[in-house]
Amino acid sequence: MILRVLLAISLCAVGQGLDNGLALTPPMGWLSWERYRCNIDCDNDPDNCISENLYMAMADAMVSEGYKDKGYEYVNVDDCWMEKERDANGTLVADRKRFPHGMKWLADYMHAKGLKLGIYEDFGTFTCGGYPGSKFYLEKDADTFASWGIDMVKLDGCYSDIEDMEYGYPAMSFFLNQTGRPMLYSCSWPAYVVFYQKIPDYKKIASYCNIWRNYADIQDSWDSVRGIIEFYGNDTGNFSLVAGPGNYNDPDMIIVGDYGLSYDQQRVQMAMWAIMAAPLLMSIDLRNVKPETKALLQNDYIIMINQDKYGSMGRRIMKSGPYEVWTKKMGLDDKGMAFAFLNLDDAGGPIPISMPLYQLGLNIAEGYNITEGFTGKFIGTLKPHDILNATVDPSGVWLGVAYFDC
Ligand SMILES: *[C@@H]1O[C@H](CO)[C@@H](O)[C@H](O)[C@H]1NC(C)=O
Ligand SMILES: *[C@@H]1O[C@H](CO)[C@@H](O)[C@H](O)[C@H]1NC(C)=O
Ligand SMILES: *[C@@H]1O[C@H](CO)[C@@H](O)[C@H](O)[C@H]1NC(C)=O
Ligand SMILES: *[C@@H]1O[C@H](CO)[C@@H](O)[C@H](O)[C@H]1NC(C)=O
Repeated sequence: MILRVLLAISLCAVGQGLDNGLALTPPMGWLSWERYRCNIDCDNDPDNCISENLYMAMADAMVSEGYKDKGYEYVNVDDCWMEKERDANGTLVADRKRFPHGMKWLADYMHAKGLKLGIYEDFGTFTCGGYPGSKFYLEKDADTFASWGIDMVKLDGCYSDIEDMEYGYPAMSFFLNQTGRPMLYSCSWPAYVVFYQKIPDYKKIASYCNIWRNYADIQDSWDSVRGIIEFYGNDTGNFSLVAGPGNYNDPDMIIVGDYGLSYDQQRVQMAMWAIMAAPLLMSIDLRNVKPETKALLQNDYIIMINQDKYGSMGRRIMKSGPYEVWTKKMGLDDKGMAFAFLNLDDAGGPIPISMPLYQLGLNIAEGYNITEGFTGKFIGTLKPHDILNATVDPSGVWLGVAYFDC
């Protein structure tokens, strides 16, 4: 029942940013970096090295294990896919040994399965892994990617000057557009600006990029996830207000299914990435996912919150020591809201949290139907001054959805 209601309240809003018809909701898919890094040792580790075989295996699993049916569609190549030198004409070449059929063939493979292929480059002279960067070749590389049938381009920022990014990232946006092929544009630009302790101009960034990384790379640990949640909760520069159809802040990959998180912590990452309207780009071995983890990654209610067409990014509205409350508007007119009670404490047992609905910003006098966010279980119909009671595990979350059923 809640699925139907959420669909009904999820009306389309028009964003102010880059308009190439892409990322109308946060993109979903898979990205190699966190899990597979720059592993180029195919002789000793053929199943896990950066090669066409890896991306094909992930694409196969994305379809056969049911991820595609839930909306995951991009299979994204990250760093270390190239030859160390461009060809005689200055064109990028995929590593001839690890990608013997080339990138166009790999893109065709994805498209035949109803999936999309993303690729990685860098705005500077080199990629972070030391491969040829796009500096002086932006237009050529945009044309090359279009000719290969690429669907998403992530442009990193190693080996470049942040002063140049103001011109370079918009230039690449222009060249991508000029190719005539819609390619989702992922910019690492603000992450570098933040690294130098400046506040990015997020409105400008949103006018050139579909999604953008704001903060440090995710690592396979709870500390890393917690740090990212803190950065996003701080919302320095009010970047949450820039999110909407076509434009999303990217807190980096989903590590649910790797080694670093407990089950409760996996729930936190899924709940918070849904609340933040974040891209859901898994960086895990899709050939080998435990059933309970797969159920989280494919949870219909979580995906519904994440993919809400209004595209509002949730914000931290309260913080008291390790306890936080976050809310995300769903649909227009404040009729729907997802909310999270977050317990970042790592001591003791579950804690009770009680809160009247109006403190969440839910003020319609007739009241709201409340459901639990992972299961859709109906909790009750509550009015603004009624108290909602929840219990939250350590390093855990209680997720809820409220909607006004008129
Ligand atoms: C370079 O471009 C020329 C002219 O378009 C073409 O004939 C040649 O095959 C290209 N060389 C490479 C290495 O792609
Ligand atoms: C190029 O930009 C125009 C104007 O914003 C837009 O309508 C068009 O869809 C874009 N095309 C591509 C391929 O990104
Ligand atoms: C969040 O803000 C607090 C208070 O200003 C600051 O101490 C902390 O370093 C910030 N965290 C991040 C990850 O930026
Ligand atoms: C962010 O928005 C708040 C109001 O919500 C405003 O007081 C503050 O100045 C804004 N900060 C920035 C950096 O834009």
